[in-house]
Amino acid sequence: MKGRLRFVVTAGPTREHLDPVRFLTNPSTGKMGFAVARAAAARGHETVLVAGPVALRTPKGVRRVDVVSARDMSAAVEEALDRGPRTTVFIAVAAVADWRPAKTAARKLKKREMPGVLRLVRNPDILKSASASVKVGFAAETDNVLAEARRKCREKGLAFIVANDVTEKGSGFGTDTNRVTFLRADGSVERLPMMSKLAVARRIVKACEALARPA
Ligand code: CTP
Repeated sequence: MKGRLRFVVTAGPTREHLDPVRFLTNPSTGKMGFAVARAAAARGHETVLVAGPVALRTPKGVRRVDVVSARDMSAAVEEALDRGPRTTVFIAVAAVADWRPAKTAARKLKKREMPGVLRLVRNPDILKSASASVKVGFAAETDNVLAEARRKCREKGLAFIVANDVTEKGSGFGTDTNRVTFLRADGSVERLPMMSKLAVARRIVKACEALARPA
């Protein structure tokens, strides 16, 4: 395909281990990120999917890199964006854990060794530090949805952000549908109706194509 782009997509949760059998995580299932990777590959783009621990099949034509922690995800994204001269689009769909335990024990901790208070340190912001021709983020919020999304779009240097209210029925974690709003860096707002995650993914991929190859 002429004008083939490289899409790098993150999906799913990350796990931040306290010891080999305990970790901090969140309820992300990876469905939205996998749909984005599927839609990008179906349009003929080179597609790398950096996936946290999820129970989903790899979409056709997608190169999948499995990771566990936010730091693993960060390294895999950097590597995927670094390869070769092709124009890159980075779409961060993963629900990255913002914090990890300050210490990870190599063996299972006994309850008598468990501190009553867990010391946490910040994880890297993968989307903010990534360099790509077009960067797109997600903002899954419970309140002040548009204001929060606008702030993240600006602070992370995004072409646009996909905002959704995870408290709304049919949106958010584990569903097959989503109702999202695109907020662009130029201030424009496009509210989409409730649709399948794959349909949302196709809209995102088309918007990225237009931004990466302006007419
Ligand atoms: N993101 C990321 N790396 C992180 C945190 C978030 O790449 N360490 C990406 C997510 O994949 C998403 C976007 O940034 O595309 C927004 O995620 P969110 O968790 O809402 O952002 P935070 O910066 O953690 O915002 P908040 O101030 O709400 O905690």
